[in-house]
Amino acid sequence: MPLSQAVKDLVVNEYIPRYPTKRAALVMALWAAQNEQGWLSSETFEEIGELLDLDATDVNAVASFYTMFHRRPIGRQLIEVCDNPPCLVNNAHETMQRLCDRLGLESAAGHGGGTTADGEYTVRFAECLAACDMAPAVQVNYRYYGPVRPDDVERFLANMESFSIETPIPPVPGQSGPPAGAAATPAGMVKEG
Ligand code: FES
Repeated sequence: MPLSQAVKDLVVNEYIPRYPTKRAALVMALWAAQNEQGWLSSETFEEIGELLDLDATDVNAVASFYTMFHRRPIGRQLIEVCDNPPCLVNNAHETMQRLCDRLGLESAAGHGGGTTADGEYTVRFAECLAACDMAPAVQVNYRYYGPVRPDDVERFLANMESFSIETPIPPVPGQSGPPAGAAATPAGMVKEG
């Protein structure tokens, strides 16, 4: 699906003028595109490249560096389980296994997750979420939850909010960033937007 004219206008009229070079607006443009499309296709890389005078390969290379950019479709609920040492020793892999079992992704658990057939959930591992004191820590659509122990998984899927460990930050109108409803700030931490 092509980018909307609204996103193109946002990039050209709002983002590009903020920077000394068009290339510097690339991450902002990728966010705006992903917020609209849900993920970034090769067609989108071409379109962003045209707006910023970049080769689509360059655009793809930058997108591939950041795990928050999705280069394939993901579920409406993106569940990320930290598997760095503090979470690992607190059974993060078992939490992943239970999540996959519960969501019908059994065969994907050993490979670090997957996406449900109905497109509702994607489960995958993530690097340290900076919530190590809440190990095993989990993110859902960039919001923080924890600890989500293996035995908590059933309750967690039924009522995620009861595991929330953050104070949501209201979205800034007109500013690109994580998808609507997402606020990536663990309790007590302030993250630059
Ligand atoms: S190691 Fe899991 S949040 Fe830091």
